[in-house]
Amino acid sequence: MDSSLQDIIDDARAAVAASADPAALANAKARFLGKDGAVTQRMKALGKLSGEERSRVGKELNQVKQTIDALVAEREAALTKAELDARLAQESIDVTLPGRGLGKGGLHPLTLTIERIEAIFRSIGFDVADGPEIEEDFFNFTALNTPENHPARSMHDTFYVEGRDDHGHGLLLRTHTSPMQIRYARMHAPPIKVIAPGKTYRVDSDATHSPMFHQFEGLWVDDNISFADLKSVYADFLKQFFETDALDVRFRPSYFPFTEPSAEIDMRFATGPLAGRWLEVSGSGQVHPNVIRNIGLDPERYIGFAFGSGIERLAMLRYGVGDLRLFYDNDLRFLEQFNR
Ligand code: DAH
Repeated sequence: MDSSLQDIIDDARAAVAASADPAALANAKARFLGKDGAVTQRMKALGKLSGEERSRVGKELNQVKQTIDALVAEREAALTKAELDARLAQESIDVTLPGRGLGKGGLHPLTLTIERIEAIFRSIGFDVADGPEIEEDFFNFTALNTPENHPARSMHDTFYVEGRDDHGHGLLLRTHTSPMQIRYARMHAPPIKVIAPGKTYRVDSDATHSPMFHQFEGLWVDDNISFADLKSVYADFLKQFFETDALDVRFRPSYFPFTEPSAEIDMRFATGPLAGRWLEVSGSGQVHPNVIRNIGLDPERYIGFAFGSGIERLAMLRYGVGDLRLFYDNDLRFLEQFNR
């Protein structure tokens, strides 16, 4: 090959090798194969050569062009690979970095309230029991001295459930936690001290009532206790629950079929925004002799005291919540405030 053609190839090899990026490589290629490139110019000059010369030099120029094309293609591949390697190195994932983490979540204010109630009663020797929400009307009413056609059944607007249990009893969503008095006391011997928190259901819905709400039942059966014992236990509970001794408790006569006598428990804060107002927090009473009998105990020997309190009510008073429905709206702006 003509030594000047060999020089062109050597020049091209050096220029291609010196191209650090695709733009430089394109420029280098143009210097030889572009419109005014060294090879192109010589191709244009072929016409001036004689026939034999033209074909020999033409062939050689074609070889030169192919060689340079190959050099460029090789360099192009190398540059592409280098670029990819650089990107991979830069964007590589550091698997040793700590994870982004999930929000921790928190307990619902009613769950916190139930845990608090349980802890306080456990600390004074009460057991904690759990029972069914779909209840037999026998346990919800009949065993609690509320026979069929008793007017007190209409105190509760009830969700009845279709079907009957294995004993032919009708079924309903329990309207209170009181059936747990019967269930628990039938399975335990006195002395009995138990609370049973859980969900209850009534056809009721406004700012202070929800068709599903929570109560906790208390039952205390022994052979030598009195209303005074109930009052001191419940007053102590309230003081611990609200973390203050500055509150009064009173028992106000009332009526429930399953207690005689019956009372509402009212409380009054001495300080704070609600100071001076009597607030109803629980039903209570001495367990009716018929209920003691339905448990399977002798009312001549055993005396029982019971109470049933609304959990939402206590939570609203403790946290200053004005609308009970906030507990069920699942609004994080509300719920997060209880988990800081
Ligand atoms: N079960 C009653 C209700 O939901 C509350 C109640 C009152 C429970 C007196 C008791 C009690 O244990 O002795 O309205």
